Amino acid sequence: MNLKKMAALRAAHEIRDGDVVGLGTGSTAHYFIRELGRRVLEEELDVMGIPTSYQSMFLASSSGIRITGLSEHDPDVAVDGADEVDPQLNLIKGGGAAHTLEKIVDSAAERFIVIVDESKLVDRLGAFPLPVEVIPAACRPVMETLESMGADVSIRSCEGKDGPVVTDNGNFVLDASFGVIHEPGDLEVRLNSIPGVVENGIFSGLADMVIAGTSDGLKIMK
Ligand code: 5RP
Repeated sequence: MNLKKMAALRAAHEIRDGDVVGLGTGSTAHYFIRELGRRVLEEELDVMGIPTSYQSMFLASSSGIRITGLSEHDPDVAVDGADEVDPQLNLIKGGGAAHTLEKIVDSAAERFIVIVDESKLVDRLGAFPLPVEVIPAACRPVMETLESMGADVSIRSCEGKDGPVVTDNGNFVLDASFGVIHEPGDLEVRLNSIPGVVENGIFSGLADMVIAGTSDGLKIMK
């Protein structure tokens, strides 16, 4: 079985009747949302979902999951993918440009479960360029500040089209390669203090559990 799907199916079985569930974004979260929808329809599981993107909102509602929001509920559990996971469960997220709302929903949840395939497990964060969401008008000064901090930076562009990726919040995404990130928690805070930065993709100390699909079976990290 596809390793992302393996992790996603296992996570779907962490969900209990009555739960409010934070719904992540990306291909691994896609498998999770589809499986949760299957349980809603076939097992009459009574859950509500808080999506982290328009993409997940449309997928969830077409899968039969009732949608709610943070103005009404805190999630009992959030399930989301990641681009990198280190042994301390620090993450890089934002490969799908949804990390701002993901961080809001995932941090509001009582339990945050990360679902990945084995390719995302790393000893140190940093091989994956760090996504930084910026207010469009602040793009140039933020890029220069990130470069002065030692990063190689590019504006994320739409594949096959001219122009930048625009997030669900109407902002741009910078991809900043810092090399190995030695102090993820420290860098996370420093980046968010730059004027014009909305949110960066380091999630330090947020994950409670990681479910990784590997060629040897499921690996659970807590
Ligand atoms: C979206 C994310 C995704 O969770 C992350 O990019 C992993 O994606 P995938 O499951 O497709 O590998 O952070 O902003």
